[in-house]
Amino acid sequence: MPATTSVTLNTGAVMPTVGLGTWKSKPGQVEYAVEFALKNGYTHIDTAAGYQNETEVGQGIKASGLPREQIFLTTKLDNPDQRHPEKALEASLKKLDTPYLDLWLMHWPAPMTRDGKPDMGHDWLDTWKTMEDLHLAHPEKLKAIGVSNFSVEYFERLLKVARVVPAVNQIELHPSCPQDDVVEYCQNKGIVLTAYSPLGSDNSPLLKNETVTKIAAKYRVQPANVLISLHANKPMHTVLPKSVTNERILNNAKIIDLTPEEIGELHDIDKTHHFRACHPSWTGFGGLGFPDCK
Ligand code: A2P
Repeated sequence: MPATTSVTLNTGAVMPTVGLGTWKSKPGQVEYAVEFALKNGYTHIDTAAGYQNETEVGQGIKASGLPREQIFLTTKLDNPDQRHPEKALEASLKKLDTPYLDLWLMHWPAPMTRDGKPDMGHDWLDTWKTMEDLHLAHPEKLKAIGVSNFSVEYFERLLKVARVVPAVNQIELHPSCPQDDVVEYCQNKGIVLTAYSPLGSDNSPLLKNETVTKIAAKYRVQPANVLISLHANKPMHTVLPKSVTNERILNNAKIIDLTPEEIGELHDIDKTHHFRACHPSWTGFGGLGFPDCK
């Protein structure tokens, strides 16, 4: 199939395929990156309360001059805020200086205390129920809700009781972490996948991988374009390349069509070079049901 430029969520809303990622984008840099991206064709920005850059992302949006309704904006509920989602939502809206979110995600199914320990006395399923309540009561403020870092095992527990099927599951996805099981599961349930760390994060070996560079040479693009385009060539996928560098932000928006054989070759990389840029064990809840983290 030709690469997509947008996908439709289970709410009916349209989400642009490529968004600017801001994990590890520092205050002082991120507002300029967001402004530059929005002035140069991006219409999708992803942030999170946990990235501690929502205020600057909001400033970048304002500085771009782009009307709010032309932007798809996602933020995430931080792990230490799982006991009081409503308060956290208001704080995010205030920092982003926006009346509404296009998408709000539970960042991890991992409630934590303020000092970074697992909060064993709170169940993430109760957090989801509150997120549902907020979405159902205020759809104009919270256009869609979803999850992040959810494995099949965790989805099975969630979907048994969910009144709202998550619109999105945002997970680490790249050729060294293809996660076929949860991808297929979400596609079957109508849940859009959003790929974070599509380049493999900082200093990624994928940018030098010989399969990636071979395909990049064929299409006369950078390795990053191959890695980003991989997701745009799959149904129900969006992708969040992160950069604070103007020329890379411009470059990363260029999507190419890949053949099924090239997609297969990229997937084969995982057989010999598997890695995660962000292992779920940092939360204190082990592998969170991901088969490669057991
Ligand atoms: P920077 O933000 O300094 O430009 P990911 O999207 O997988 O999280 O990867 C982000 C990392 O990849 C950052 O270190 C970012 O650097 C770098 N990066 C972003 N775009 C490109 C590109 N086109 N070529 C090489 N590195 C890139």
